[in-house]
Amino acid sequence: MNVTTGRKGRFITVEGGEGAGKSTIIARLYEELRERGMDVLLTREPGGIEIAEKIREIILNPAHTQMDKRTEALLYAAARAQHLAEKVLPALEAGKLVLCDRFIDSSLAYQGHARGLGIDDVYSINRFAVGDCMPELTLFFDVLPEVGLGRINAARGREINRLDLEGMRFHELVREGYQLAMARDPERFVVIDAGQPLEKVYQDALAALIARL
Ligand code: TYD
Repeated sequence: MNVTTGRKGRFITVEGGEGAGKSTIIARLYEELRERGMDVLLTREPGGIEIAEKIREIILNPAHTQMDKRTEALLYAAARAQHLAEKVLPALEAGKLVLCDRFIDSSLAYQGHARGLGIDDVYSINRFAVGDCMPELTLFFDVLPEVGLGRINAARGREINRLDLEGMRFHELVREGYQLAMARDPERFVVIDAGQPLEKVYQDALAALIARL
């Protein structure tokens, strides 16, 4: 039994700013763990859950420039609660290893720090949303904002969302926010240097994951 979630499965999240490469890496980690015979669920918020997808559409719609930052924080927390209830918790109950691309720490960094709502307040609404279901391990893909945004611009055909349009200062605050979130709960995090070549980032992430499993 897992002590953090109190459930049979293992709950692991990955976090990072824009262009940190986490989505590419998490897909490879998923394949590797499956090849090793583990029963793994790869998911990301809103995770294909209809209610959560609809909430996310409202948040990320580029036309919604008037959205109040409290509304944004509450909507992320609401989408998270639904994804957890419908997808993550059942998988953990079934004993799976759940790999989730972004979770509570995204809200602490983006809404709590970068949007300026305060990490404590955003933590409170998110603890209401997730209850006792916190990840036992979080891999943080750390990259300088200029490097991450440079990668995004280089990758043709990527859809630009409302948050991608924010300036460099916002992304610097996101990185700072993650550092503050990690300082609150250092045992849970492993920092991966995501400024390295992709293959090295992957190898470091895999080693960190295997070391904890
Ligand atoms: P996502 O679709 O996961 O994009 P990516 O991981 O490829 O960057 O996230 C979309 C945006 O939403 C991203 O800019 C981060 C932001 N976000 C928050 O601001 N708060 C949150 O709680 C979450 C989950 C995401």
